[in-house]
Amino acid sequence: MENYDNIYLEPGLKESITKLKNSMNAVIMAHSYQTHDVQSIADFTGDSLELARKAADTDADVIVFCGVDFMAESAKILSPSKTVLLPDTEARCPMAAMCDVQGLVDLKKQHPDAVVITYINSSAAVKAESDVICTSANAVKIVEHYKNRKIIFTPDKNLGSYCSEITGADIILWNGYCYVHDEFSTGDIYIAKHQHPGCLLLVHPESPREVLEHADFIGSTSQIIKFVEENASAMDEQAGVIIGTEIEIANTLQNRFPHKKIYPLAEHAVCRQMKKTTPEKVLKSLQSGTTEIFVEKSVRDKALGALKKMLELS
Ligand code: 13P
Ligand code: SF4
Repeated sequence: MENYDNIYLEPGLKESITKLKNSMNAVIMAHSYQTHDVQSIADFTGDSLELARKAADTDADVIVFCGVDFMAESAKILSPSKTVLLPDTEARCPMAAMCDVQGLVDLKKQHPDAVVITYINSSAAVKAESDVICTSANAVKIVEHYKNRKIIFTPDKNLGSYCSEITGADIILWNGYCYVHDEFSTGDIYIAKHQHPGCLLLVHPESPREVLEHADFIGSTSQIIKFVEENASAMDEQAGVIIGTEIEIANTLQNRFPHKKIYPLAEHAVCRQMKKTTPEKVLKSLQSGTTEIFVEKSVRDKALGALKKMLELS
């Protein structure tokens, strides 16, 4: 269970958000990389796959998405009749911006037989040019499903290369990456292991290959959290875990398990775009309906097919 006792919000802020949210039949969804403050006002917190599933299932009229642009867009594609709000329009994932539609169309022409698997961290237009979407929680499973075909994998080269390694699939990689995870280095591992001897290293598959090679466990955000939940009782005085993903995950886990040794792999692992959302901006978003996300119907219909294929396969 999350512990939000140490959160300080402006007096009355949480009450104002709850009152307005209830009157609008709105739901607040937050990615696990959001600040603890934002998570404390959310109805659901999760990784990309969990939030996509929630967006597809919710019966709320309004979804306030505390995350980044592609997540709000995916929610709109999955729930087109709902109003989807992104509290800060500057919350845009740089990796999603690394894949352009024309480039993907050209690559498809060069490999007409290839199946296109696109990471959910992509624009709606790129999703529309894809056969199936994946998240880091189901990427290996989805690549495994298509491993007898040639695969174009966009945009994350690190996740794509990890999937190729695990499944043996022949994958054409796009040259995109997440700056937060791609900056992890063997130097970070050397320092962390030296400072925290005996700890297990848990790493997100958006990290470079030389970092993954040193990991004791590789998993998406929710899989890393689950690993710690399941192994917390066995984590003794001597050993703990080093968390190789965005810093909020180590902070959240330390908060939940205050007597366990939980360390971030590196202090630099901060997604600046994820931190743009604040509880104050969530209230403003509910009050003024900003900023509403729209996806053009022709794009939405095609992207929906690819997203539904993911949900069906995972
Ligand atoms: P997951 O939520 O799938 O772990 O992905 C991490 C991420 O970088 C989200 O932007
Ligand atoms: Fe994009 Fe990386 Fe930030 Fe996720 S953590 S939103 S992939 S930059």
